[in-house]
Amino acid sequence: MHISKEKILLNLNSRIFSRQFHLFEEVSSTQDILRSLIVSGSPEGTIVISETQTQGRGRLDREWVSPEGGLWFSTALIPPFGPEIAPQITLLAAFSIVQAVSDIADIAASIKWPNDIFINGKKVAGIIGEMSSHQVAIKYITLGIGINVNILLENLPPCATSLSYETQREIPLEELLSSFLNHLDDSYSAFKVSKDLSPFMDSIRNLLLYKNETVEISTAQGMVQGTILDIHTDGRLIMKIGDKPRMISSGEISQL
Ligand code: BTN
Repeated sequence: MHISKEKILLNLNSRIFSRQFHLFEEVSSTQDILRSLIVSGSPEGTIVISETQTQGRGRLDREWVSPEGGLWFSTALIPPFGPEIAPQITLLAAFSIVQAVSDIADIAASIKWPNDIFINGKKVAGIIGEMSSHQVAIKYITLGIGINVNILLENLPPCATSLSYETQREIPLEELLSSFLNHLDDSYSAFKVSKDLSPFMDSIRNLLLYKNETVEISTAQGMVQGTILDIHTDGRLIMKIGDKPRMISSGEISQL
């Protein structure tokens, strides 16, 4: 079954994310195709989707398994801010995925800070934001999203799940994508005014996985244990380490 551009456009209300759509059957990585398009002048909101990827990549240089049945795409963002807001964009994307999954698959998902979406203890989606910046200004961000939609568990890594497995039905990829883009348009537009996550804090806080739990986190200083308390409006994670609250800018959480 091929992804239909017409079906995507049918439910898309976004002005930003309807400017340019590039749909492929197979690419190396939608991130790379999008980057070349931006460099040759494609505007903010350009979308590259592919039914499969041969070299899909995740954070920390990990492979991203991208078989048919998943939603693999990248979009171009040019926020009028400095590079320090990039983590907040990732969280807006995470929030938009949770909203789209709830609207279209009718199932609750959580955000594993900073960039994973989990259902029933397993990863269902991931986000990668790759940025090009010029001193204090962002030139562009290629925001790459992978959602395991209609994929059998045997075709995914052991720690992953898919929406079709969790809901026991096939989920329309096109509706999921339009819903995500509509939500991202709403939150990105609000973010450009607020310049931080304050309008979304209540929602994001409620979706935070492992809140009030003691976890292990890899930081630049090595592995530390602590309790997840909250998210700051600038996107950093607030943890209690020892008896002090500490702000974490980047890292990878694992359950104890
Ligand atoms: C992660 O969880 O580490 C991020 C995964 C991001 C995967 C998506 S799939 C579409 C886009 N193209 C890529 O090569 N990666 C992202």
